[in-house]
Amino acid sequence: ALVSLRQLLDHAAEHDYGLPAFNVNNLEQVRAIMEGARAVQAPVILQASAGARKYAGEHFLRHLITAAVESYPEIPIVMHQDHGASPAVCVSAIRNGFTSVMMDGSLREDGKTPADHAYNAEVTRKVVEISHSIGVSVEGELGVLGSLETMKGDKEDGHGAEGTMTREQLLTDPEEAARFVAETQVDALAIAIGTSHGAYKFSRKPTGDILAIDRIKEIHARIPNTHLVMHGSSSVPQELLAEIREFGGDMKETYGVPVEEIVQGIRHGVRKVNIDTDIRLAMTAAIRRVLATKKGEFDPRKYLEVAQDAAKKVVIARLEAFGCAGQA
Ligand code: G3H
Ligand code: 13P
Ligand code: NA
Ligand code: ZN
Repeated sequence: ALVSLRQLLDHAAEHDYGLPAFNVNNLEQVRAIMEGARAVQAPVILQASAGARKYAGEHFLRHLITAAVESYPEIPIVMHQDHGASPAVCVSAIRNGFTSVMMDGSLREDGKTPADHAYNAEVTRKVVEISHSIGVSVEGELGVLGSLETMKGDKEDGHGAEGTMTREQLLTDPEEAARFVAETQVDALAIAIGTSHGAYKFSRKPTGDILAIDRIKEIHARIPNTHLVMHGSSSVPQELLAEIREFGGDMKETYGVPVEEIVQGIRHGVRKVNIDTDIRLAMTAAIRRVLATKKGEFDPRKYLEVAQDAAKKVVIARLEAFGCAGQA
């Protein structure tokens, strides 16, 4: 059944677990996630970015997720808009049946230009007003996602051209977070603590010094009733990189966010953990393996089925690690 993000994250907070939010663009990803959820009886968050809507079209996305709700009736599902760039994008998601929207007002509507606090609070408050009146949840974002290793803002988050930033610029300020939540009444807040989007996050395995887990604690203490969200939380498994390289892919050395660090984050108030890249890597590795080893294969179902299984494994691993297995 479809549920709102607020319902699911309130349950997660009450029972001390976290939920991965997986990005979906197509049938195979939706099925992989739902099969994983069913296997361990976990609730799930399926989220679609603007890119997903552009790729699949809003009708296909809506029906894919509706199909998941019908095919897996025992699983609570949140249908969430990821990184909505304007109130208009959020409203159109709501009209398509989404039960939760992210208003990412940390950037202007072009998705590139950093926005100031006043703009962010204004557009986010507007979306909360509309959404809450019809039971839809809202996630906001405050801060600049970026690496505390390179001291650079997240390119995919619109900060690539800004050069080096200070540590404080790359971390969400707890006092500002408290002010933002009071102004907007968001249900969930994406915070900057050293993660960034995409496969290339860190040049070595990160530990406490490049992920600011302490900052999560400080923010959670100020806004205990707002669910914290970690974007850019793929772990970039080394075995998937090795498989991609083995079967002809070209991927540079890179490290993601270790699952243990995410689990620490969950202990300190993180409830929603955004994962897209790990599913991409798993599917690509599997497809490369099939195409490289079964050179006569030309039925897409053969390699897409293997890709689904590979994605399902990642899904189950995260559902179990974050404590949501058995919570459906
Ligand atoms: O936040 C970004 C997600 O990984 C979605 O990526 O815009 O390529 O669909 P996308
Ligand atoms: P990754 O690129 O680390 O998977 O992050 C995805 C994300 O934050 C989507 O909003
Ligand atoms: Na941002
Ligand atoms: Zn994100």
